[in-house]
Amino acid sequence: MTPFHPPVSRRPGVLAVHSIDLFVLTVPDLSVAEHFYSNFGLDVKRVEGRLDLYTFGHPHCWGSIYEAPGTKKLQYFRYGIFAEDAAAFREKVFGAGLMAEPHPLGTKEGIWLKDPDGLLTQIVVAPKVSPSAKTVPTVFSPPAPGKGASPSRRKVSQVRPRNLSHILRFTPDVPRMVQFSENILGLRLSDRAEDIIAFTHTPHGSDHHLMAFVKSDKLGLHHTSWDIGSIHEVGLGAEQMRIAGYKQGWGLGRHVLGSNFYHYVRDPWGSYNEYSCDIDFVPADLDWPAANNDPEDSLYVWGPEMPSEFIINYESA
Ligand SMILES: [Fe+2]
Repeated sequence: MTPFHPPVSRRPGVLAVHSIDLFVLTVPDLSVAEHFYSNFGLDVKRVEGRLDLYTFGHPHCWGSIYEAPGTKKLQYFRYGIFAEDAAAFREKVFGAGLMAEPHPLGTKEGIWLKDPDGLLTQIVVAPKVSPSAKTVPTVFSPPAPGKGASPSRRKVSQVRPRNLSHILRFTPDVPRMVQFSENILGLRLSDRAEDIIAFTHTPHGSDHHLMAFVKSDKLGLHHTSWDIGSIHEVGLGAEQMRIAGYKQGWGLGRHVLGSNFYHYVRDPWGSYNEYSCDIDFVPADLDWPAANNDPEDSLYVWGPEMPSEFIINYESA
C-alpha cells in the first residue's frame, strides 16, 4: 500500500484549525492499551512512560496515552493551524476570554483554552495532517485466470490504518459544542441529526467529519476513526481484532452521514476504534450543504443492528 500525499489544501482568507494534531487519554493500565492499539494495526511507541500512537509509514503522532487510575478518560485535544494564522487565533481566543493554563500532561506551546464542556484544548502551529484529498482505495491486482481473488487465512497481512480520519466525542450539549467549534475553531457543520449528533469539517479540506459530537450526560471520548483503503480490509481488521480477543463491536455497515463503510471495535474501556473506508471528502473550495437529518434515517443504511451499549459513555465525570 503506497501512501498518497496530495498537496496541502487551504481555503484562503479563512481562519480555522486545519487538523486534529493530537488526542490525549489516560487509561488505568498502559500494557492493556499497548496490546489493543498494536493489534488494531497502529505503530505504538513507548516514550517516557506513555504510549504514542503512529500509523505505519506516516511521521505524525496522532495520540498519546498516559497511565492514571480510574476509568479511561479523555484529557485534551490539540488542533493544528497554519503559521500565518497564529496571531489572529491568539487574538480571537484572548478576545473571547477563553485563555487557559496548559494541561499538566501537555506542553506550553501555542494557545490553551477551555471549551464549553470544560475540556482543555491546545492550538499549535503544525503541519496539516488531515487529508487534503479524498481517501484513496487500495488497489488489488486482478487474479490470474483460473485463480481465486481471495487470499487464504494464512496469507493475509495485518491491516494497518493510514491516518486518523476523525473523532467522535460525547458532550452534554451538542449545539453548544458546534457553536464553539464554528465561532472559535472555525470548523464548519457538515451534517447533524437534531441535537443528538453533529459532524464538523475544516474549511481547509478534510473528511466529512474531522470532529463530531454525540449527546451524553457528560464529556468523553466515543471513538477514534482510522482510514483504510477497502471494505476487504474493514472485514480483515474486524477479524484480526476478533483473533486478538476483541470480539465486541459494531459492523460491518455503511453510514449515511459521511457514507463510510465501518467496523467499530470495542476497546478495553468501553469506547471504540473504527476501521473506516471511503468516507465523503469536503475539499477546501466547496461549501458542503449542511443539513439537519432524521436520526432514525441517517445513522446507517445497512449493517447489523446497533448494540445498545454502543452509545454508553463509561468515562467518569
Ligand atoms: Fe466514525
